[in-house]
Formats: sequence, C-alpha cells, structure tokens
Amino acid sequence: MNKSVRKAVIAGNWKMNKTRPEAKELISSLVPLVKDAGCEVVICVPFTNLETAVALTEGTNIKVGAQNCHFEKSGAFTGEVSADMLMELGVEYVVLGHSERRQYFGETDETVNKRTRAALSAGLKPIVCVGELLWERECGITEEVIARQIKLDFFGISKDELLSCIIAYEPVWAIGTGKTATAEQAEEVCAFIRATLAKLYDSETAEAVTVQYGGSMNAANAAELLSKPDVDGGLIGGASLKANDFSVIVGAATNG
Ligand code: 13P
Repeated sequence: MNKSVRKAVIAGNWKMNKTRPEAKELISSLVPLVKDAGCEVVICVPFTNLETAVALTEGTNIKVGAQNCHFEKSGAFTGEVSADMLMELGVEYVVLGHSERRQYFGETDETVNKRTRAALSAGLKPIVCVGELLWERECGITEEVIARQIKLDFFGISKDELLSCIIAYEPVWAIGTGKTATAEQAEEVCAFIRATLAKLYDSETAEAVTVQYGGSMNAANAAELLSKPDVDGGLIGGASLKANDFSVIVGAATNG
C-alpha cells in the first residue's frame, strides 16, 4: 500500500450553482489561494461556466471539469452535451454517475458505463461516482452495492483507460446532509473499491487509481478523512462554493 504512487485530487462539484459573474468572482478568488497546492485541483462547473472557467484558469494549476456528458457523439438528444464538445472547449475532467443524476435523472449503471466509455474515447478523464443509500448500508449490503456499481460502470474498460479515471466514493446519505462518513467508514469503502479493482484488473493497477471520498467534506473534517491510506482526495459539493473553505481542503490534501 503506497499512497504516494497516486495522484491526490481535490475536485469541487459546483452542481447547479453560480451564474457567470458569480463564477468569475469565485475562480478569481480561488486562483491565488491554491497556487501552491501539492495536489491536483479541479473545479467541475455548470456547462454555462465552462468557457469562462477554462479562460480564467489558463496558465494556473486549476483544471476544469464538467458535470456530465452524453454517450453519443452527436444527434437528436435535446439538452445533452457530447464528450467531444467538452474536449473542444479545453475541459479535462467530467463527473459521471453522480447520485443526483442517478436519483433525479434516471441514470443507471448501464448509461454510466456508456458515458464513461464515450468520455474516455474523447480523451476526457472521468470522475465516476459510486455510493450506497442509507437503507442499503443499514441492510449490511454496502460492499455488494459498491462492487456491483464498479463492475457495471467499468465493464469493458481497459487497464490503461482505468488509469485515466478517478473513482469517487460518495455515500448517498452523506451528500448535502452535513452527515459525513467517519474517516474509518470512508477508508473502509475506499479500500474495498481498490480491492475490487485489484480482482477485476490487477493489484498494481488498483494501487495506481485515485479514489476520492465525497459527502459533506469540509474545511473542518477534510484533514482527518484525507489522512486515511486509501482516501486519495475529495469530491466537494457545498464547501467548493466558498474559495476559503475549498482552499483549506486543498491544503489538507497537500499536507496529508
Ligand atoms: P456535499 O459536499 O455538498 O455533501 O456534496 C458532495 C457531492 O455530491 C460532491 O459531488
């Protein structure tokens, strides 16, 4: 187990927040605060802010991500955006399979798999989200749920392609609830994800994949979560909307 072989990645998921002027203000505040980060810093912004974010982060250490992409290259898919469209804008990452997409927009493991393949083919780096519902945890099937998601979401994805992906463990009960998983719970599932990847691929590959924790991570609890050996970073919702809070989390990853 060697955490140092992996890239620590702190990614902000802005969700459906920030108009363009608000995005400009947040990014301008963030740039100087994270310029010396010892980890990868990513902001996943709404589609309408992508061009602004790419322009404002040019020449900085902040990378830009989108929050979804469709699996077809083009066509009659009203409201959707393709992976090629994101690449052309200068976007590097894309969040896929977020529990809010699964819960509110009918996303399934099959469509997450298709979107992940399309994103990889276009050259994007997918941040694939997995996580159990509270009820599933209470029924004692967290590991079954996570293993199923990993197997289906990464079906047909090669070892080399996997190395371009990040996996975000986001227990659904911890998202936006202020109810964070304990560092031990986060570590347990992140380590389980790695063990599952080792079975599906091999242990060397599994050791090299960045596994993030997400769910009410904030400036106060980040250091403890990120100190765990299998927690390689964070996917941050609410706390990524405040430059100071987000930069404290980046600092915790730098030190952790
Ligand atoms: P919160 O940090 O607001 O709980 O959101 C987590 C999340 O869903 C990140 O993708």
